[in-house]
Amino acid sequence: MTHRRDFLVNTSVALLATWLPVTAGARPAPLETRAIPVSGERLPVIGLGTSGSFEVGDNATARARLRTVLGRFIAADASVIDTAPTYTSAEDVLGDLVAEAGQRPRLFLATKLSGVAGREAGLAQFADSLRRLRTDRIDLLQVHNLYDTATQLEVARELKADGKVRYTGITHYVESAHDELAELMSRHKPDFVQINYSPVSRGIERRVLPLAADLGIAVMINRAFEDGRLFTRVAGRPVPEWAAEVGAKSWAQLFLKFALSPPAVTVVIPATSKPRNMRDNLHAGRGPMLDARQRDALVAALA
Ligand SMILES: NC(=O)c1ccc[n+]([C@@H]2O[C@H](COP(=O)([O-])OP(=O)(O)OC[C@H]3O[C@@H](n4cnc5c(N)ncnc54)[C@H](OP(=O)(O)O)[C@@H]3O)[C@@H](O)[C@H]2O)c1
Repeated sequence: MTHRRDFLVNTSVALLATWLPVTAGARPAPLETRAIPVSGERLPVIGLGTSGSFEVGDNATARARLRTVLGRFIAADASVIDTAPTYTSAEDVLGDLVAEAGQRPRLFLATKLSGVAGREAGLAQFADSLRRLRTDRIDLLQVHNLYDTATQLEVARELKADGKVRYTGITHYVESAHDELAELMSRHKPDFVQINYSPVSRGIERRVLPLAADLGIAVMINRAFEDGRLFTRVAGRPVPEWAAEVGAKSWAQLFLKFALSPPAVTVVIPATSKPRNMRDNLHAGRGPMLDARQRDALVAALA
């Protein structure tokens, strides 16, 4: 049986090994960054989701792969990682891997108040998230799926005033929630919204994005790959020739560049459990995003 200390030493060495080829060799161009409207703080445009991918419990093989995913993410100077207390073991796994790597200060951790009602339950869940994520501060605390929104946003604001949270937000993940999300944005003016957007789910273009630009609310995009389903639609097809115009070598890069094309979008958080997909996704944060003609061509390619 491996002792915990040996495990930590081995994993630190493994993580360092994942960094070395990137830091010692020719370094790729830096990721584009965009400003959080309420503060001006800049965030790299490619983030990381943890739903599914980080829900691996104590599985050592899966954790080893995620350690490399995280190593590549950090080596590219990416920082935004989104999780939730209700993604089974994701907060625990993320907390362990970040602590092992000793990289908490350079990451922007976003979690949620999720499925709880009332102030006390919200505060208790937050305290648990701090313990599970092995940190004393959360960068972004979001009210998940518009549940008990007014009360939970109040909790998030109270924690922000106490210095335990840096930004507040509200989230959803389906088009049918966009109108309610827009109303809550106008009423509560959170620092961030997190919402779904892809070439086949363009609902936020109608109200959410213009409102975010007007009100100065940062926009985090989830489900840019429709939870992976977009890849089935293009299976076996090469990327279009025009992809080279924006330096994209994969469909994933085109989907992420699509999500990042509207200037009101701040960051996109694709989830992956695979180091090679992490590298692929990071590359989308370099070079130009899509112009109107390229966006239309991508939408047409998926029709
Ligand atoms: N209500 C909410 O607030 C809410 C709801 C949904 C999601 N979210 C957040 O948003 C994040 C992203 O959404 P999501 O996890 O639903 O789905 P997603 O990011 O749209 O898709 C993830 C899927 O794409 C695959 N993938 C990733 N990179 C790839 C690549 N380069 N090439 C091929 N396949 C690739 C992943 O498989 P591999 O592991 O094999 O790479 C995974 O199956 C979540 O993890 C979560 O943090 C929030």
